[in-house]
Amino acid sequence: MSELAQENGFSGEGENLGHVVKPGELDLSHKVILYLDDITVSFDGFKALNKLSLEIDAGELRCIIGPNGAGKTTMMDVITGKTRPDEGTAFFGQSIDLTRMTEPEIAHAGIGRKFQKPTIFDQHSVFENLELAMKEDKRVWRSLFVTLDSAAGDRIAAMLERIGLADQADRPAGLLSHGQKQWLEIGMLLMQEPKLLLLDEPVAGMTDDETERTAELFLTLAGEHSLVVVEHDMAFIRQLGGKVTVLHEGSVLAEGPLDMLQSDPRVIEVYLGR
Ligand SMILES: Nc1ncnc2c1ncn2[C@@H]1O[C@H](COP(=O)(O)OP(=O)(O)O)[C@@H](O)[C@H]1O
Ligand SMILES: [Mg+2]
Repeated sequence: MSELAQENGFSGEGENLGHVVKPGELDLSHKVILYLDDITVSFDGFKALNKLSLEIDAGELRCIIGPNGAGKTTMMDVITGKTRPDEGTAFFGQSIDLTRMTEPEIAHAGIGRKFQKPTIFDQHSVFENLELAMKEDKRVWRSLFVTLDSAAGDRIAAMLERIGLADQADRPAGLLSHGQKQWLEIGMLLMQEPKLLLLDEPVAGMTDDETERTAELFLTLAGEHSLVVVEHDMAFIRQLGGKVTVLHEGSVLAEGPLDMLQSDPRVIEVYLGR
């Protein structure tokens, strides 16, 4: 256990902090869903994040770009509680201090994260994957064979439509294309109704057509959810159309519409001009 964790009142490995936050408690009265200020993360003296400050508005769709090693993934690790910052402030809404919560507590509070590699259940059907994602306790596999109540069935059907997999519902997930697997995993995350969704390189390895459809999906999610998307695909970022943040050496180098960044000499030098 780290000293910081002890200072924050951890009493032991695996025990929670005793202030579990329910999604309803998220305070968006100031319209900011994520507030990072002066976040520093050091690995053996190397600063992966160096006084990073960033604000995401409720309902916003924000793209994060920057060269490899800029700290993009580390930033997501801090937000989800996987990595504790050495310094700085991280708030979810107005009053939820992420630096004082465990990973499961943060997920429960309404922050979902999509990693690059899909973590779907290959042997189970697309439908069953969404059903499992809805369950509080995924170890209760028996529940798959219990009849679904109709509200749950409707939710799954609506999600299948939303992620474009309605005609794949009964197929084993392992047989889907790479892009379809990514959509399924996004659907599984959405079944948990996260307020904030973090997506690390979601269109890597997708065909152009799949990439375009993913952008369309994300555009339907914005507003209802807030999205933070790390990507290298400029056509995709252009299609999303929102504000873009450029990370470089662990802090924000520039922020604004993609057009503005593409003519910013500092951004061209560290990233776009490569
Ligand atoms: N667990 C770790 N231990 C040591 N160094 C790390 C660790 N995680 C990331 N780093 C370093 O921190 C820097 C930022 O990494 P990362 O956040 O993965 O960048 P990005 O996602 O922007 O490519 C890199 O130099 C990386 O090597
Ligand atoms: Mg990364």
